Amino acid sequence: MNTFEVFKLYPIAIESAKGMELTDTEGNKYLDLYGGHGVISIGHCQEDYVKAVTAQLNKIGFYSNSVRIPLQEELAVKLQKISGYNDYKLFLVNSGAEANENALKLASFYTNRSKVIAFRHAFHGRTSLAVAVTDSPAIQAPINKTDKVLWAELNDIESVKAVMDSDVAAVIIEGIQGVGGVKIPSTDFLKQLRELCDKNGSLLIIDEIQSGYGRTGKFYAHQHSGVKADIVSMAKGIANGFPVGAIMIDPKIPAKFGMLGTTFGGNHLGCAAALATVDVMMKNNFTQNAAEMGAYLFGKLKGHKAIKDLRGKGLMVGIETVADAAEIRNKLLFDEHIFTGFSGGVNTIRLIPPLCITKKEIDRFVEAFDKVTK
Ligand SMILES: Cc1ncc(COP(=O)(O)O)c(C=O)c1O
Repeated sequence: MNTFEVFKLYPIAIESAKGMELTDTEGNKYLDLYGGHGVISIGHCQEDYVKAVTAQLNKIGFYSNSVRIPLQEELAVKLQKISGYNDYKLFLVNSGAEANENALKLASFYTNRSKVIAFRHAFHGRTSLAVAVTDSPAIQAPINKTDKVLWAELNDIESVKAVMDSDVAAVIIEGIQGVGGVKIPSTDFLKQLRELCDKNGSLLIIDEIQSGYGRTGKFYAHQHSGVKADIVSMAKGIANGFPVGAIMIDPKIPAKFGMLGTTFGGNHLGCAAALATVDVMMKNNFTQNAAEMGAYLFGKLKGHKAIKDLRGKGLMVGIETVADAAEIRNKLLFDEHIFTGFSGGVNTIRLIPPLCITKKEIDRFVEAFDKVTK
């Protein structure tokens, strides 16, 4: 049997990794400024993480949500501490799409309403509700098309007001649009959105799957604006590569037995991986490092003649280039051995590196970028 070919693959197979570095099957080394879609938060094969996950695997890897799993409770307490979202409830799943799926479903249950407002260029995942609020017709199958999703423009509150009605259960927005090209909702816009949702009895769901977990210098990107969400979704960096997703839920939303569920979500091994990730983040002040290294990188790239627009915060960086970004990215990978990401629609190289990055790796990138854009 062959694999179902839905991904455009590089002819590179990664065999091992450590920190910021990947090694392929030929022994070539690469600098990882992409973290496998922003998943590697504390660095590849981080020592304490490997120890904790291995120890857990030797105790118990999995049991279902039919029994108490104290590791979930421990994780909820730690996430509360690190995120500042006091009293919120935690529901654990397996991926980002599933987190958004449950966030949207929960909003609909709670409000007894059936519509949702989403934003142009948004990406929220590929399962049915998540893809319905993703602005990419090419990845929506006919079964995903719905008139329950209303579209608005980022940073344009009038466009939200124009579609808001009494059947809108929620507005869903990314902390920073990632796939859409590292586009930031302004503080004013988020505040206006919060007000509008409150006035209309709709929930505000903030998708921090890519922008969250310390990446921008705050635990969640939207915390730069001081606005609070009713539900926050997260995944990617949460367990440094172990598939874990989650939503944090305002305590005003009551849980009812059976309203949400999952077989794998919140399993022992996933919780151990997530706990180890948070511990390493806290111990090493990686959120602070993201802010400092982001500022350092922005300082180095500001005014670069090959850059048309530089967007982002902390270690979520969009470099819109004058020349073809895809070509620059290929040169960075094949000539300079540096992995980066891409937002095709806006000719943008996307950097979402592990949060343990240092000035040394940033200098190496800047030097390589200079070279390939000469
Ligand atoms: C903002 C955002 N939301 C949701 C998702 C979907 O996450 P997953 O691929 O884990 O389902 C992604 C993935 O790129 C994302 O960037």
